[in-house]
Amino acid sequence: MLKIGLLTSGGDCQALNATMRGVAKALYKAIGDVEIYGIEDGYKGLVYGNYHKMKPRDFSGILNMGGTILGTSRMPFKQMRMPDENGLDKVQAMKDNYHKMDLDCLVVLGGNGSQKTANLLSEEGLNVIGLPKTIDNDLWGTDITFGFQSAVDVATQVIDNIHTTASSHSRVFIVEIMGHKVGWLPLYAGVASGADIILLPEIPYDIDSICDALKAREKAGKRFSILAVAEGAISKEDAALSKKEYKEKVKNRKYPSISYEIGDRIFKETGQEVRITIPGHTQRGGAPDPYDRVLATRFGAAAGKMILNKEFGYLVAMQNNQVTKVPLSEIAGKLKTVDPNCEVIQAAKAIGISFGD
Ligand code: F6P
Repeated sequence: MLKIGLLTSGGDCQALNATMRGVAKALYKAIGDVEIYGIEDGYKGLVYGNYHKMKPRDFSGILNMGGTILGTSRMPFKQMRMPDENGLDKVQAMKDNYHKMDLDCLVVLGGNGSQKTANLLSEEGLNVIGLPKTIDNDLWGTDITFGFQSAVDVATQVIDNIHTTASSHSRVFIVEIMGHKVGWLPLYAGVASGADIILLPEIPYDIDSICDALKAREKAGKRFSILAVAEGAISKEDAALSKKEYKEKVKNRKYPSISYEIGDRIFKETGQEVRITIPGHTQRGGAPDPYDRVLATRFGAAAGKMILNKEFGYLVAMQNNQVTKVPLSEIAGKLKTVDPNCEVIQAAKAIGISFGD
């Protein structure tokens, strides 16, 4: 009898259920004699022993279901080695519960922080396999994470909708896209929806350059402009601050988010009327798109195969359109950021999209 634990950790995204379905179905099909434990609310469930035995039927009808049937939570990596408020050693508790369930492998569906903890548990001697989740697409070692493409679809749809109202009014529209440290989502949604200006954390912006681009559009007779702004977009001045100074500045910012600050500066410097839209968590919600369902099935089936081959301590990854595996120790704690000179950005610039630099 093979015993597997599944957990979904960190911010949710589309295709978490589809990926778990892939793992479970691959194992049931290959050997049948499998017991799967669903660990509830991410690592919290592993720490506090909240889990339940799952049945094959739990994995039916969930391919197109958003969210996660197991629930999730954020348990920052830096707190993992700290005892909880009752003095509980969380890492020891996770190991104890793993052994209590008598698991052969723990499968962690998670992003950066979650895979760091997965690596920690692997170093502590547990059999762990990671699956790359996040709308941010910022996990090192894989070209793509599940959830990203579905979030691009949502954000693109939002900007498409803004286009129709924007074309009726002479206004500047800012759409704030998720991704606080990296700009994959605003980059892809911005290009896909024909945004005029895209601001990414990786390319600090100059407000004058943004205003020049807006004025040039107005002069060319364009009735409106659309900016796709990463929630973590940063000005050149702010990028020059130390981490501490920048954190302090953000804490005392009088605007609810960076888009409002940019909008205010644009209005003051160009006189153009500005409207702001923040789709927020809708970008993580709803059903996975067909691309993510296929990706989830490929990743899930690969994890199933790795469990059967006893290949532990790896993240299932996509490289050059091939599903592969990367040691957790190689990816733990590394962010995959957007290269400001990448081909997508060059193409966008070639057709006149401004990055505010
Ligand atoms: O990591 C995914 C993500 O959606 C980021 O894009 C966003 O900055 C963050 O999570 C939001 O986190 P929370 O759901 O905890 O507010």
